[in-house]
Amino acid sequence: MAAIPILIDTDPGVDDAVAILVALASPELDVRAITAVAGNVPLDDTAHNARKVCELAGRLDVAVHAGCRKPLLRSQIFGKYASGGGLAGDTLPAPAMPLRPQHAVDVLVSELGRAARGEAEKITVCTLGPLTNLAVALAHSPSIVRGIEKIVVMGGAFAALGNRSIAAEFNMLADPHAARIVLASGAPIVLVPLDLTFQALATPPRLAAIRSLGNRVGEMVFKLLTYVDRSDVERFGMAGGPLHDPTVIGLLLRPDLYRGRPAFVDVECDSPLTLGHAVVDWEGRMGKVPNAMVMTDIDSDGFFVLLKERLGRF
Ligand code: RIB
Ligand code: CA
Repeated sequence: MAAIPILIDTDPGVDDAVAILVALASPELDVRAITAVAGNVPLDDTAHNARKVCELAGRLDVAVHAGCRKPLLRSQIFGKYASGGGLAGDTLPAPAMPLRPQHAVDVLVSELGRAARGEAEKITVCTLGPLTNLAVALAHSPSIVRGIEKIVVMGGAFAALGNRSIAAEFNMLADPHAARIVLASGAPIVLVPLDLTFQALATPPRLAAIRSLGNRVGEMVFKLLTYVDRSDVERFGMAGGPLHDPTVIGLLLRPDLYRGRPAFVDVECDSPLTLGHAVVDWEGRMGKVPNAMVMTDIDSDGFFVLLKERLGRF
């Protein structure tokens, strides 16, 4: 079977890094480009970190492009671990591979545009950070929506508490207006919220299993995942830190491990108290057509088996 063409829009970020590694280890996926966006850390760092991760994977051929430096309207926020540069200080060496000159938004417009015109296969867009790049691309060229196979978005929190504010998940909070544009775009969307990622916990035994792979990638992933503080564990009483972004890639590889259902979703863009909160209308009470498949459950043991097996391929 032909590999699924994907674009990864990302703000690495430790869990973004693991997601990229799993994607690059998977022959079922054809990573056409990695587009960086400001999020966990400023844009220069996310673009730098994306190349560090490609080099760790031995994939200097992957095109990495820098995108938007700021969110559309709101004041900029960064992630909790911004002080470590997003990837645990100098755990990974500085990259030698160059950043490609084309802007990430131009890459999204041209790649999705070719697919929209029927000149190439439709593309699955994986968004692992704030949705600024994709929203700008859709505003620039709305017709590119026809080139999108689906958008798999890590973002939102419904029954779960928010992680960056009481009411909001970080990727939605960092650029709620962009999230609203993407959700309203008409593209097929699969949403992977905190409610699901809070089930994918990097517990000490699971981290030890990754380290026991004995390869450099396993060792580095162990270091990255143990560098961050365990505040999620402290705040939410979990057995380990949640691994958010790799669940997006896992969904493409093993959809049988996931469960979800369609619903209408929108994001709060006005209230300072609940800015970035993702509202899901499970019962259709708003009378809106569902705009997303909202994933609710993951077989976390199966997911970590997949993760370890893919990281073991390096
Ligand atoms: O809320 C989780 C998201 O924000 C993930 O994409 C992770 O990288 C974090 O910063
Ligand atoms: Ca991310």
